[in-house]
Amino acid sequence: MAAKIISGKEISQEIRQELRQEVQELQEKHGVVPGLVTILVGENPASVSYVTAKQRTAKDLGFYSVQENLPEEVSEDELLQMIEKYNKDEKIHGILVQLPLPKHINERKVIHAIDPRKDVDGFHPVNVGKMVIGEPCFLPCTPHGILVMLHRAGVEVDGAEVVVVGRSNIVGKPIANLLLQKRKPVGNATVTVCHTGTRDLAAHTRRADILIVAAGRPKVITADMVKEGVVVIDVGVNRIGTTPEGKAILCGDVDFEAVKEKASAITPVPGGVGPMTITMLMKNTVEAAKLWAGLPSEVG
Ligand code: GUN
Repeated sequence: MAAKIISGKEISQEIRQELRQEVQELQEKHGVVPGLVTILVGENPASVSYVTAKQRTAKDLGFYSVQENLPEEVSEDELLQMIEKYNKDEKIHGILVQLPLPKHINERKVIHAIDPRKDVDGFHPVNVGKMVIGEPCFLPCTPHGILVMLHRAGVEVDGAEVVVVGRSNIVGKPIANLLLQKRKPVGNATVTVCHTGTRDLAAHTRRADILIVAAGRPKVITADMVKEGVVVIDVGVNRIGTTPEGKAILCGDVDFEAVKEKASAITPVPGGVGPMTITMLMKNTVEAAKLWAGLPSEVG
């Protein structure tokens, strides 16, 4: 069976079109323009490319957007001061500090410094806590994107065996949590979380009706590790080389070519989860702007 390809690119385009319309209405009816600042520390090529894409999308949707580039050596205090400045800036509704940060900066302190009402990444403990108990909040962008993809692709999640590979705060832990909740329209699954300490990874992945892989290792999931008909969500973005033109060659955490022959549906890399992450950041920023303006919002 050749799998249906779940195109994050196409689903993203649909949602971005909806957001474009909403941004226009917000401006016309309420004089509100969603504002997003993205803060980049250093020049990590992957981070530069993610932040560039986030800025491009924000501009394309009609946001007020600001890009801050700080040198690798910037002090923790300077970064915290910048966050404080944007916490107070009325034109800015969303603050994103691209991770990872250099080792001399305490990531936890930085995340805590962001006003939870502007935490469009959904990383602040206030939002993480609300997410876990199912209260309205900013959902982290990659897990949020996965929920939307599963929904729009018509995947039956209720009662399914979901296996998550990876336990990061950004993907593994939140997606496992969200899928086990009695959330509508996507939730109520039985969830297993695998990680580097899992003894027999394949024994777990072979049981999955839905396999979500965020391991950060190229092609770690091979065809013999999945069952016929599985739905595969590949969160991995691994740079495995460069084209003669200098473009990065990307591959996922799943051996796409082999696994797609067994799966019923699968996300590609690139063009799968990546565009959805950016789209959900835009969605969160629009919700943050509505929250700030006292309008009904999905986040509180
Ligand atoms: N680094 C990798 N993914 C993310 C993300 O979703 N948000 C931020 N801020 N940094 C990241």
